[in-house]
Amino acid sequence: MTTTFASHHQNKNTFKSGKSSSIVTRRRQGSTSSFTSQKLARKSRRTLKVNASSVEKLRFLSPQEVKQVREEFGTPVYVYDLQTLKNQAESAKAFPNAYGLTVRYAMKASPNGSILKTFLNEGLHIDASSGYEVERAVKAGFTYDQISLSTQDFPDFFDRLVEKGLKVNACSLSQLEKFGEKFPGKEIGLRFNPGLGSGGTGKTNVGGPSSSFGIWYELLPKCQELVAKYNLKVERIHTHIGSGSDPAVWQKVSGMSLDLCEKFPDVVSLNLGGGYKVGRMSGEKSTDLSLIGEPVKVAFQEFAKRTGRELKLEIEPGTFLLANSCSVVSTAQDIVETGTSEGHTFIKLDCGMTEVLRPSLYGAQHPLINVTSQGELSPQTKKYVVVGHCCESGDLMTPAPDEPETISERELGEINIGDLVVIEGSGAYCAGMSSKNYNTFPEAPEVMKTNAGEFKVIRKRQTVDQILANEVMI
Ligand SMILES: Cc1ncc(COP(=O)(O)O)c(C=O)c1O
Repeated sequence: MTTTFASHHQNKNTFKSGKSSSIVTRRRQGSTSSFTSQKLARKSRRTLKVNASSVEKLRFLSPQEVKQVREEFGTPVYVYDLQTLKNQAESAKAFPNAYGLTVRYAMKASPNGSILKTFLNEGLHIDASSGYEVERAVKAGFTYDQISLSTQDFPDFFDRLVEKGLKVNACSLSQLEKFGEKFPGKEIGLRFNPGLGSGGTGKTNVGGPSSSFGIWYELLPKCQELVAKYNLKVERIHTHIGSGSDPAVWQKVSGMSLDLCEKFPDVVSLNLGGGYKVGRMSGEKSTDLSLIGEPVKVAFQEFAKRTGRELKLEIEPGTFLLANSCSVVSTAQDIVETGTSEGHTFIKLDCGMTEVLRPSLYGAQHPLINVTSQGELSPQTKKYVVVGHCCESGDLMTPAPDEPETISERELGEINIGDLVVIEGSGAYCAGMSSKNYNTFPEAPEVMKTNAGEFKVIRKRQTVDQILANEVMI
């Protein structure tokens, strides 16, 4: 489906955003203003000196490395940084805990086998969201008993996986019933919706009455009935309330989750999910795991005093491990201007929602850094709207914060056609969550920067023949 920048002439409300200094243009759909109604005078754009506070910085690549990456692999390309992945894994493993900790990588964040293997070597286990993810993790070297499955779509083949040792968290009463019918007397986990959620955006909030994830906490009696009916042994309680959650809500839910553990005497571990906020833009804050974890550790200790049960803690971060571990290197393949006083200079990248969907989906902010074709940072800055290469007006890299429908201008190093643009913060929910093959754009390759500074391909660029491989002509 293609929409247009429909209201870009008459119905525009241009104002200074309260959240940033960028110009924000609200788009309303369905307007049919005529071109003649525009002021034809071209907006004069100032070219400013670089202002370090407004222009983002490269994270782990140098400008020369950005150029090198394009020469070796072409663009667009995802570049992961092995050292950042390892550092984040180490920080996650230091999460405060009273009686033991298992860190599960929420592999939905980026499921490439080399990333899985990196975390396997770091001693992490896996949180899978589908039966297929389970198989993918096993192919990367994890054993079934290192994998916990919490899924919206219970696979037909779950019995085969459970027989091999997979840990299943029932996420609805019908999943619990299915499991009980197949495996009476067996160990199981229960994922609850504790009645409270919190996410960076409404789309990433997965708790509370507006969320379908997990068993609604008030259905506890029905749950206990099914557990008794099938003589199941509930050994794990699981709650995950959203991505980018408010640490205060997360902590409150931790307490509520401990209350749920009290209802099931066989529970030995509590999984508090992921959701730890990570700043991608320089002004955004990241969650300090030691800070949020400490009161939870105390709550586990108090639980132990009260019940005599020392529960193990599980966490399953995705964003925390991946968000700032990857940069997408792209090329500015075109520049167009809309020549009115309310117009913009648009940079068209050779990537977009096919690689980094989060801006279009959530209004997520990703740092964008221009590197000249000579491999240098531009000394001048200018305001741009940056768009992706899809035939879709929603393919926007610079939406207003949390408003995917709203165009926002961003101050970037001055860009010429053929320059490089690096999209930082592209590790979590990017390669794994793109609008793959839209407009028949092939999947971009993934590359790992090793500790020795080499760049190794971990997924090749897709070909058009591969896109067509399963098509059947009739
Ligand atoms: C069950 C579950 N656990 C963990 C995560 C990871 O969340 P995050 O990437 O915010 O850490 C998710 C994300 O959707 C999830 O659904």
